[in-house]
Amino acid sequence: MNKKTIEIRNQFLKFFHKKKHKIMQGSSLIPKNDTSILFTNAGMNQFKNIFLGQDKSNRYSKIATAQSCLRTGGKHNDLENVGYSTHHHTFFEMLGNFSFGGYFKKKAILYSWELLTSKKWFSLPKENFLITVYKKDEETYDIWANIIGIPPDRIILVGNKTKNSDISDNFWQMGDTGPCGPCTEIFYNLKNNTFNKKIKNLEEKINDYIEIWNIVFMQFNRINDGSLVKLPNPSVDTGMGLERISAVIQNVSSNYEIDIFQILIKDIAKISNTADLKNQSLYVIADHIRASYFMIVENILPSNENRGYVLRRIIRRAIRHGYLLGIKTIFFYKLVSSVNKSMNINNIYLLNKKEYIENILKKEEMQFRSTLNHGLKLLHSKIKTTINHTLDGEVTFYLYDTFGFPVDLTEEICREHNIHVDLLSFKKHMEKQKNRSREKKTFNQNYIMMHNVENISIFMGYNTYKTESVIKNIIKNEITQQFISSGEKGIILLNKTPFYPESGGQIGDIGIIYNNEGTFKVENTKKNGNMILHFGIVEHGILHVEQKVFSEINEQYRSNIQKNHSATHLLNSALHKILGDHIYQNGSLVTPDWIRFDFFHNISIPLKTIQEIEELINKYISKNILIKTKTINFTDVKEKNIIFLSHKKYEKHVRVISIDHYSNELCKGTHTNRTGDIGFFKITSVRKIASNTYRIEAKTGKNALHLIHSQEKNVHEICSILNTNPNNLKKTFEKIIVKQKKLEKNISKLKEKNVANIIEKLSKNKIKIKNITLLINTLQDQDLETLRNIMDILKNKFKQAIIILANLVDNKVNLIVGVTNNLHKLIQADKLISIILKKIDGKGGGKSDIAEGGSVYIQKLPKTLKEIKSWIYSII
Ligand code: SER
Repeated sequence: MNKKTIEIRNQFLKFFHKKKHKIMQGSSLIPKNDTSILFTNAGMNQFKNIFLGQDKSNRYSKIATAQSCLRTGGKHNDLENVGYSTHHHTFFEMLGNFSFGGYFKKKAILYSWELLTSKKWFSLPKENFLITVYKKDEETYDIWANIIGIPPDRIILVGNKTKNSDISDNFWQMGDTGPCGPCTEIFYNLKNNTFNKKIKNLEEKINDYIEIWNIVFMQFNRINDGSLVKLPNPSVDTGMGLERISAVIQNVSSNYEIDIFQILIKDIAKISNTADLKNQSLYVIADHIRASYFMIVENILPSNENRGYVLRRIIRRAIRHGYLLGIKTIFFYKLVSSVNKSMNINNIYLLNKKEYIENILKKEEMQFRSTLNHGLKLLHSKIKTTINHTLDGEVTFYLYDTFGFPVDLTEEICREHNIHVDLLSFKKHMEKQKNRSREKKTFNQNYIMMHNVENISIFMGYNTYKTESVIKNIIKNEITQQFISSGEKGIILLNKTPFYPESGGQIGDIGIIYNNEGTFKVENTKKNGNMILHFGIVEHGILHVEQKVFSEINEQYRSNIQKNHSATHLLNSALHKILGDHIYQNGSLVTPDWIRFDFFHNISIPLKTIQEIEELINKYISKNILIKTKTINFTDVKEKNIIFLSHKKYEKHVRVISIDHYSNELCKGTHTNRTGDIGFFKITSVRKIASNTYRIEAKTGKNALHLIHSQEKNVHEICSILNTNPNNLKKTFEKIIVKQKKLEKNISKLKEKNVANIIEKLSKNKIKIKNITLLINTLQDQDLETLRNIMDILKNKFKQAIIILANLVDNKVNLIVGVTNNLHKLIQADKLISIILKKIDGKGGGKSDIAEGGSVYIQKLPKTLKEIKSWIYSII
């Protein structure tokens, strides 16, 4: 191997630098201000507006770049070729030289020929080239044939694909719209076989060759209606794939055999224990890790939309090929360091991103891996039963929706079995799904009823925290499904469950539903009729209907809820006892952390009573009474003096929770065994929330203790600030208050004195014009209240006066302007202040007798006050 890929890139740029081209950086993979393409797909993208004559700021008529490109969609999509073709990539580098109204056909061709064949540069044998030219482009043909001297049988004229179109392999365009023009392509015989003159057929000739350089003569803009508009300046855009020219120069028959790819391929082969370095899956993974790496560098994340979806497809395709190679563990992220090595990356920014890229790849692979196996099993079973070699769109949609199989992945697997995917029917299913989610943005429990999801879940959670259950239903994206897999949110219904569903104020349980194949984290439990709905997300793996699982609630969470629920009953009974039997529960909430209890009551509850309630409840707790449960007929409830909610509908048989004779309440909730389990009860707040309705909030057990600890901590901190102890705290405060009152009195006396002094001083500076007192003065560091006070006193004193006081504080000026009522015909305070504020760039306003404002431009103040004085003189 003579030249390394990186050297070849440098030589290209050096050549064009010598030819007076400006060497510029390639642009980002995400096109700027261009929605016509998703990714940068050619070196010319960043110059689009220069070609179109819309960007006139460009200072260079000749530019050369090495541009990173991604061809995974739109007009230029090579994704599916990757792995099957030895010369296609999703991510690659394009070497290009560009002329904007400078040189045109002849020079562009001469440059390319010199670089490729000159001994000084790439030194490739001339007889190995073949040229294609757009059929109508006689000038280009002439340059190749007569100036360069390519034998006519090695110049192929390529026409339009159909009679009435200008679509041709030798008419290049960036996208459906945008700059375009005829092109001439340089092909190279990689097989180094002698040119067979007898072959007339173009395809046969081309088969031995690969295209290495495309020279486009940008002459048109294709606009929305498809027509071509001539560009202001005929220009040149060329593109040569770095990986391809490297294969040519390194004399290997595939891009994947060049130095940079071999580093990657060897690393993947090592991970997968693959001996055959020409295995297509190695190629796919090597290509896709480069694409994924550089997409993530641009802050693209795998998702189900736009660029994120392209990234997801690429990653998932690579993972599936890893699977084909027999890699059993998460592997793709390990190749990030291989990319750094192969591309000789020494840019600190990229090196620092290594861990970030690895984490994203790791997460995506973990998510996909757990479903890949199940999805493949399903797909292979469907492939076996396909009719007419066509896979139904419903299966493709199901694989996409449940297993996260990108459609092109399903297509690729089917292609390997000579099966075609019915995309039209896939799209229909996709559309149906979209409509469904549009209709129901939020989960509607009635849905379950409407769609006859039949399931009666038996609640086992009074006596046990864990059961063996069977999944009876899975609801995902608002429809019933057979599977739910890693990362997906949904609802699981079981035949029996220990999870208490939110009801009667007690919130729903959390926990896990799991087996060897997957774990579903239950984030909430709700009820619908006889069904218990476990809401949550699959943490890993996959779960499906009719599978056996363990369902296990979070014990600590439930135990805290139980303490609070039993305490709520004690609270209800204590309120009856202490406040009276008019108490009627009007809503409650029982969480693991706190209790909320609303009740009808009409007079405020003093602290002493609150403490009495607390005391009584703690007495019940310390008695450690057994909490009993029994089922009775609802008809017996009234006779037995049991608390129930009269507005609520009860079933025929009801459950009673009894705590000795202290509390008897209808309740379906879960409780502690004994009152002693509650530990401790503390009210944290009592307030009126509506007329005749009070709310008590409280905590129990450790939570109550923690609350007291934090209050205690506060008291200690206050004591240490005040240098006292909790016993003396009240006294210390009383002393502080007395002291403060004294100080306030002193301050107010001083202020009065200060005002009197200022008034005296100011009065000396007054000017009298025609019985009007004019007083303009600057003070320092006075507060607003003092200023207003001074202004009032001065106005009273002078009877007929215009007063402007400027007060300087912290490099700012506060202004107060006063005009006595008898002068308002002549001048008003608000007008006067607005004249001043305009000159000192300040803000403010007021009324005709008093106005206030301020500014930070104090340097302008003296001059302004002088000017205003003269102006007042002039109007009096
Ligand atoms: N824009 C042309 C291509 O991508 C030449 O660079 O092939």
